[in-house]
Amino acid sequence: MTQKNRLVKMIVYGCQMNFAEAERMEGQLREIGFASTEDAEKADLILMHTCCVRETAEDKAYGKIGEIKRLKRERPSLLFGVTGCMAQKESDALIRRAPHIDFVLGTGRLGELSRVVGELLAERVPHVVDVTEDGTLPEEGTPARQGTVSAWVPIMYGCDNFCTYCIVPYVRGRERSRSPEDILGEIEDAAAKGFREITLLGQNVNSYGKDHGLTDFAGLLAMADEVEGVERVRFMTSHPKDLSPRLIAAVRDGRHICEHFHLPIQHGSDRILKAMNRNYTTEKYRGLVRAIRENVPNASLTTDLIVGFPGETEEDFEALLDFLREIRYDAAYTFLYSPRSGTPAAKLEGQVPDEVKHERLERLMELQNKISLEINERLAGTTQEVLIEGPSRTDEAVWTGRTRTGKIVLWPHRDGEKIGELAQVKITQPQTWVLKGERAEG
Ligand code: SAH
Ligand code: SF4
Ligand code: F3S
Repeated sequence: MTQKNRLVKMIVYGCQMNFAEAERMEGQLREIGFASTEDAEKADLILMHTCCVRETAEDKAYGKIGEIKRLKRERPSLLFGVTGCMAQKESDALIRRAPHIDFVLGTGRLGELSRVVGELLAERVPHVVDVTEDGTLPEEGTPARQGTVSAWVPIMYGCDNFCTYCIVPYVRGRERSRSPEDILGEIEDAAAKGFREITLLGQNVNSYGKDHGLTDFAGLLAMADEVEGVERVRFMTSHPKDLSPRLIAAVRDGRHICEHFHLPIQHGSDRILKAMNRNYTTEKYRGLVRAIRENVPNASLTTDLIVGFPGETEEDFEALLDFLREIRYDAAYTFLYSPRSGTPAAKLEGQVPDEVKHERLERLMELQNKISLEINERLAGTTQEVLIEGPSRTDEAVWTGRTRTGKIVLWPHRDGEKIGELAQVKITQPQTWVLKGERAEG
């Protein structure tokens, strides 16, 4: 059944995987006649793809759900669906709390979207809640990609690691890897449509292929590197417990594989790492960093950090600061520990008071910002190869792009510069988060 001229407004929260999935859902909706709108007031369907990794993510979603109530009251024909991780976690409790929600689809049910929307439009059913997990891979369809240069490609779904603070394994189920043919087919298709940069996504890309045994992640990266038209290959996230020497070698030997490792350490105290069930020690992690820096000397290194995990003492926290001083990350994503019900850490003794968490987070960010700036300052005067992404958000005349190491570069646009091309930019004003520069001559 084809619906003509209907409009969907997408609202997407969470990680890159969520953004990748949202593009796939939008693709499905296009097939049944939907176009996209930015304006919720004009939409026939509002689709919210949610995250529940921290309480703040859920609060944001609930706030938005509340706002949509008014639209729904004004236009009862408006359809409103909630999908993704929070939908999986809350299931029909969502509709009980907010009866203006028409449908709830869990993380394993996204492939049902167009069927469910069709049934609701035909008023065959009052509402739909489906959070069944059958452990299969989703039908990928044709994603409605949002970027013009960069394409997200999920290579696996789910997570088997059960870090004690984390809800993801409970809402996304066990690890399932897509086949190399499927993934390469998608990359070839994206490259043929003009996408220059491919980011391979998974909760733990290093365990890619363990289920089907067709190739490991290093093998997959090498294949992606060969796809005609692809200028850059990126990947995330690498779990330190199974980062292999083969992967480091693949980055070293690859032509288009970018020299950037996002390697979340989470904490710098071995006691805390153990309580987090991360399955590595700071000593093992040091060894990985050494291997990366020996093999790929210009690689950038970024990480995720959690402050205020239950039982974290001032001494543990100092160990984390010391670790940052030692490793010197290019950047770190820092989070306040957020208890997630159903995870083991939420039940631990020694929950850290909010004001202590905040105070530690501030000290952590202050140190990391100083290190990021120092690292970036060393790039002053160098010329960097940048993949042009287009005008910056705040100034049409200033363009933005990224280095192979993933750093954002800003420079005054020159005639003839085109989105998706490579530019040589001389860095003149390095800052903590961005590198400002000018087009290099010649
Ligand atoms: N699979 C990825 C990350 C997924 S979630 C990995 O293991 O690296 C992204 C980040 O959110 C995590 O790296 C962690 O730092 C943070 N995070 C997850 N659960 C959290 C919680 N309960 N409280 C605070 N931060 C959390
Ligand atoms: Fe969560 Fe750990 Fe899995 Fe990452 S590896 S998604 S932090 S359980
Ligand atoms: Fe959030 Fe789910 Fe991603 S909980 S971080 S959207 S995997």
